[in-house]
Amino acid sequence: MTQTVLATGGAGYIGSHVVAELLATGRRVVIIDDFSNADPDVIDRIARIGVGRPELVEGDVRDPARLDAAFGRFPVDAVIHLAGLKAVGESVADPLRYHDVNLGGAVALFQAMVRHGVRRLVFSSSATVYGAPRSSPIVEAAPLGALNPYGRTKLMIEQIIDDLVVAEPAFASVSLRYFNPVGAHASGLIGELPRGVPNNLFPYIAQTAAGVRARLSVFGGDYPTPDGTGVRDYIHVADLAQGHLAAVDFLLAGEGKGRNTPVNLGCGRGYSVLESIRAFERAAGRAVPYDIVARRPGDVAECVADPSRAAELFGWRARRGIDEMCADHWAFQSRLMAS
Ligand code: WQD
Repeated sequence: MTQTVLATGGAGYIGSHVVAELLATGRRVVIIDDFSNADPDVIDRIARIGVGRPELVEGDVRDPARLDAAFGRFPVDAVIHLAGLKAVGESVADPLRYHDVNLGGAVALFQAMVRHGVRRLVFSSSATVYGAPRSSPIVEAAPLGALNPYGRTKLMIEQIIDDLVVAEPAFASVSLRYFNPVGAHASGLIGELPRGVPNNLFPYIAQTAAGVRARLSVFGGDYPTPDGTGVRDYIHVADLAQGHLAAVDFLLAGEGKGRNTPVNLGCGRGYSVLESIRAFERAAGRAVPYDIVARRPGDVAECVADPSRAAELFGWRARRGIDEMCADHWAFQSRLMAS
């Protein structure tokens, strides 16, 4: 029997890669998305990869009627919840919108799952729930403490799920804590489409290499790291997507019932900003001019995953290195420029 997976936010950067991997392994996929942070043509671009075409329910995940329409039309076996707002700076400026969209969407979705007897959930969480990590690499049992409204919504949703699995012991959930997703699908057909000035390092580096931005500002050169710049655990978005498949397989095999299991998705290897710039210059064959400026408020020196739980539970490990991340990110950026 073909498994059916509902992916909320499945038209987004992470979502579209998760959908492509699910389709490539023979699952039937239903996307529910309002395209508030995604281009509708991503559905056609996923289809052009040649792995099949997802079903689409256009709508807001906070809308019970749209959720009932999706669960009523398709025999959903598992849900991957990716829909949500995710810009840290924006969340500081507009916290109520983040709580409304992220928390409101999660509660409405989980209520619909209970209504329709769908009890397998993969939640798109974030390493931001660790706040300022006290040690690195970070294990899932590390202290939690988000430092911004965006991170707090992720932490609160994990706690909502913790409460749900107590009330509904047949429910099984995995909360995937993403480190720093970068890169794009090897086909060059899907990738990150940042709107406006990119907040994150890799899209900004890619646009600087492409000449869209004149220079990159390196936020801080005086961190207690080998070269003084911030160290992060960058993970190829295709590896991240395969981590979602592994989590779905884990749940559909009957594992994790009555629990919300947090799992880090990272490589377990950190790269500094300067190392990332050099890797990108090698991949693109272009210079990335930069200036080292003041630290960005709220940044931490280092945030690197201990990914051993994902290996133990799912048999999953990230396989793609920084050079492939840069090459695929540059290929997508180049394709954007050519279109
Ligand atoms: C990476 C490094 C910056 C931009 C954020 C969210 C996290 C997740 C991923 C959603 C840091 C430096 C950056 C620039 C720079 N998003 N930098 N110049 O802050 O680790 O994580 O995005 O889930 O929740 O917090 O990622 O790419 O913004 O920064 O020097 O123009 O690059 O200081 O050291 P971050 P990032």
